[in-house]
Amino acid sequence: MSSKVFRQSRDALRMLAPGPLALVTTMYKDQPNVMTAAWMQPISLSPMLISIAVQPSRLTHEFMTKTEVFTLNFPTLELLTAVHLAGMVSGRDQDKFEASGLTPEPGVATEAPLIAECVAHIECNVRDRVTIGDHDLFVATPMRVTADEEAFNGVWVTEVDAGRVLHHLGADRYAALGKTYQGTLPSEDDD
Ligand SMILES: Cc1cc2nc3c(=O)[nH]c(=O)nc-3n(C[C@H](O)[C@H](O)[C@H](O)COP(=O)(O)O)c2cc1C
Repeated sequence: MSSKVFRQSRDALRMLAPGPLALVTTMYKDQPNVMTAAWMQPISLSPMLISIAVQPSRLTHEFMTKTEVFTLNFPTLELLTAVHLAGMVSGRDQDKFEASGLTPEPGVATEAPLIAECVAHIECNVRDRVTIGDHDLFVATPMRVTADEEAFNGVWVTEVDAGRVLHHLGADRYAALGKTYQGTLPSEDDD
């Protein structure tokens, strides 16, 4: 086995980071906004809860706090430029829907818009907001979950482009899911 070298503590964040990223949509007083987010995770099965860490400086943080709703929209590789833009520019400075060409559609469970070009959506109600470090953790209930059948059938379908959602590796590096493998338990014969 090759030898291991010490890494900085902040490398832990990037080792943990590559869950799928999402385009987080919010809407306040008829103004829609979209922000790229990678720091998300499921945190409870019963009740069903997910969480997302959002820095207080983000317009998204302001809209999530004011409306107590948001939607996670899952993009694939063809939306990479829009994803990077939504993560580099604030809605305070630019209308990111106009700049990216992403199409907002009316939300169903909440007023936060859905992004038409994305393959799946989780419409969320905020249940708690916890300040932990320099990001606030928004704990949320998934109210309505929809997905392109081709892209998600209980798991992401990585055999087709629609199911290969994007992951953020750090800085300007992204990856898409590759091959799916099935985990098995060692059989008694192998003992
Ligand atoms: C790939 C990627 C992932 C990001 N993930 C997060 C995140 O999880 N939480 C966060 O607060 N900001 C995150 N950001 C930064 C915001 O997307 C960025 O500051 C954005 O401009 C905020 O937009 P807003 O002010 O319109 O809300 C990420 C940026 C990129 C490029």
